[in-house]
Amino acid sequence: MDFQAFHRRSIEEPEAFWAEQAKLIDWQKPFEQVRDYSRPPLVDWFVGGQTNLCHNAVDRHLKTQADAKALIWVSTEVDKEVVYSFRELHAEVQRMAAMLLELGVGKGDRVLIYMPMIAEACFAMLACARIGAIHSVVFGGFASHSLASRIDNATPKVIVSADAGSRSGKSVPYKGLLDEAIQLATHKPAKVLMVNRGLAPYTPVAGRDEDYAALRAKHMDTQVPCTWVEATHPSYTLYTSGTTGTPKGVQRDTGGYAVALAASMKHIFLGKPGETYFSTSDIGWVVGHSYIIYGPLIAGMATIMYEGLPTRPDGGIWWSLVEKYKVTSMFSAPTAVRVLKKQDPAYLKKYDLSSLRALFLAGEPLDEPTAKWIADALGRPIIDNYWQTETGWPILTICNGIEPAPSKFGSPGKAVYGYDVKLVNESTGEEMKGADEKGVVMIEGPLPPGCMQTVWQDDARFVKTYWTQANGRWLYSTFDWGIRDQDGYYFILGRTDDVINVAGHRLGTREIEESISSHPNVAEVAVVGVADNLKGQVAMAFAIPKDASGLDDPAARLKLEGEIMKVVDGQLGAVARPSRVLFVTALPKTRSGKLLRRALQAVAEGRDPGDLTTIEDPSALQQVKALVAAK
Ligand code: PRX
Repeated sequence: MDFQAFHRRSIEEPEAFWAEQAKLIDWQKPFEQVRDYSRPPLVDWFVGGQTNLCHNAVDRHLKTQADAKALIWVSTEVDKEVVYSFRELHAEVQRMAAMLLELGVGKGDRVLIYMPMIAEACFAMLACARIGAIHSVVFGGFASHSLASRIDNATPKVIVSADAGSRSGKSVPYKGLLDEAIQLATHKPAKVLMVNRGLAPYTPVAGRDEDYAALRAKHMDTQVPCTWVEATHPSYTLYTSGTTGTPKGVQRDTGGYAVALAASMKHIFLGKPGETYFSTSDIGWVVGHSYIIYGPLIAGMATIMYEGLPTRPDGGIWWSLVEKYKVTSMFSAPTAVRVLKKQDPAYLKKYDLSSLRALFLAGEPLDEPTAKWIADALGRPIIDNYWQTETGWPILTICNGIEPAPSKFGSPGKAVYGYDVKLVNESTGEEMKGADEKGVVMIEGPLPPGCMQTVWQDDARFVKTYWTQANGRWLYSTFDWGIRDQDGYYFILGRTDDVINVAGHRLGTREIEESISSHPNVAEVAVVGVADNLKGQVAMAFAIPKDASGLDDPAARLKLEGEIMKVVDGQLGAVARPSRVLFVTALPKTRSGKLLRRALQAVAEGRDPGDLTTIEDPSALQQVKALVAAK
């Protein structure tokens, strides 16, 4: 089919277009209205319809392929592999759903999931969807302060967690961080459901902590039918960072999300029932939600959930899984490919990768050398795709399921169906229609199905953060810079806000600054993202100590730097730890006191800071320049 025509129809006749895509999922009650855009920029999709995400991901496949593989859990951390058929997954999800019901969870209640990459995390997500509860998965790499702020925002009735994760064969305890977070939080969950893997001993909190294995034993045969929910019923919230310090709860619906995922599996990810999908992400991120759990299962595919490193026991582990499970679509991030690039290339030749149709990469810019290396090494198409936690599925890519098209190095591709993408001049707000002009990547409202409905319990923040209105049209900002060439291919040029992207992990520099500021010897701090060959970007902190005495001594500086990193590790998690903390006596600011973030970042990357006419004290940048040069 002609992609151009397909895309045009999705924009010009959205109701007919999405009504057709909606046939890809099961509806308990048909919708009466495809979309309701009477409260712009908020939109409701498939109004009046009733469905259930868990039914679409699990139950509906029982008729046709109950014994086909559904969840393939592989852990190279604890050396285990367990395969669940759809029938077995259905049974486990019902058990978990029964436990949640017993613990008092009902439709609309929140359940916070703070878990490593274990099968029970998948059961928990699906079990919530099954009973209409709203899950909020918090990435296991986040520590107590990050977790506490999410607990307070989501106010979960129950938290599902585990004793520990594991990294490089060493256990990474979760329970202590969780207890600390609950103590820090104002909201207290009624119950904590603990999966005990036997990796880190803990003492349960009496009256609050419940043992998963013990409860499961009570519910081996309990049947829990799906609760049919309105298409607009929230399925989950997922926190993501922006400019302000407090993370936003991205709220997703049910019907629109199911339809969008089903459509993307067909048109973009080329998945068919009975095939195997392997996404190397984590359930704590949006890729894990859409393309480890819901997308592949909705498509009737087996999905691989992998706990471990890409390089352990050796750099061939992922490719061995591709061979063993005949993976047809694989999804990863450029950082992972850059890690693999450092391994022996023989690993890629060692396994039979002929089942693989394509490798999809997303989450951060895909640089040309990385793309070329993996394309050559793999001999399979590499498909870059660009999107966000907010959208839930790709905004830009090549839709090979509609019409095969070439990729261009450095470009994630063209605007995907459903997305009316515009490039907008930052200062004038005008749309840039010409080729090769740089603008802010925006999407004309309403957003298509599957995208965020709102910020959890804060419509005003949603509208204020993301939307601008001009001439009766609403535009959603991605906060990314981009250009478009004459063929309609986009190139993403980095964020317009204070978000940085470390190894595909989205982090807010303000959150890191707040954490560093809590160290008693930090008067002021600025954190910027600095280009890095392996991780894309790393966080670098420039701090003004309250008491600089003794800091002439490099050992004292190193000690303070180490202490500050420990604070960040303990509060936010190692994922947010800056690569360096450098000490200065002043930060580059305008005369009105605004931090010159872009200038600081430029100098930290060894680039020209550009126009500095507004700077108060030019020596502040000189210090940074000297420190970076000396590093
Ligand atoms: O800056 C863009 C970058 O990652 C941001 C979204 O991150 P997150 O919410 O974690 O969602 C990731 C979903 C894949 C974007 O605003 N980004 C994502 N994909 C790409 C990208 N930058 C360049 N190329 C990409 N393919």
